[in-house]
Amino acid sequence: MSGHFITFEGGEGAGKSTQIAALHDFLTSRGISVVCTREPGGTPNAELLRDLVVLGETGRWSALEEMLIMYTARSELVRTLIKPALKEGRWVLSDRFFDSTTVYQGYAGGVPLSRIRKLNEIVLGNFGPDLTLILDVPTNTGLHRVASRAETISRFEKQKVTFYEQVRDGYLQIAKENPKRCQVIDGTQSQMDVSQQIEQIVVKHFDAELAP
Ligand code: TMP
Repeated sequence: MSGHFITFEGGEGAGKSTQIAALHDFLTSRGISVVCTREPGGTPNAELLRDLVVLGETGRWSALEEMLIMYTARSELVRTLIKPALKEGRWVLSDRFFDSTTVYQGYAGGVPLSRIRKLNEIVLGNFGPDLTLILDVPTNTGLHRVASRAETISRFEKQKVTFYEQVRDGYLQIAKENPKRCQVIDGTQSQMDVSQQIEQIVVKHFDAELAP
């Protein structure tokens, strides 16, 4: 039996990494083999592309060029890691996937959504996540959380607040249009409450396979 593909989405500082680690532990404790990855990145080649697109000055790439880099990295990640893992029956948890391009390069970056859809169709056909968990936090809360981190500031984190408001609205719009695939979770709750809500959603979504 093939595995399942779950993606985590949200603006900066939404708490995705913590929740991916928690879901990894939960699924592993149920005997499921889990692979965690991230975008852009996840393979040696795609990590090189991540550095190109995430580091440097904001004006380094246009939104259209960012989209092309993201899909190059995504194509390789899907081909070499995600599809083979699913074929082996493993579950794949990804920190971001195609909704990030729709939101960051489309809704916030201004690339027409129809162009992103066309490229998506060329690269992925009808391949996509079985479930997408969108961690939603108010823009200022997310940016505050990011500001307190010690990591290097990425090109995207240098954007204006209005950019992040468009990111947040874009995710909510995607959730509205894809109610079967997407679940929005209030990321302002405690980490424990968010994890429990995610576990409940996952158990409900993959009912038969997760029955104790
Ligand atoms: P991260 O900080 O969550 O690891 O993501 C790196 C940045 O890349 C984040 O600011 C969002 C951005 N991004 C896009 O703009 N488009 C994409 O398709 C992806 C996957 C990420």
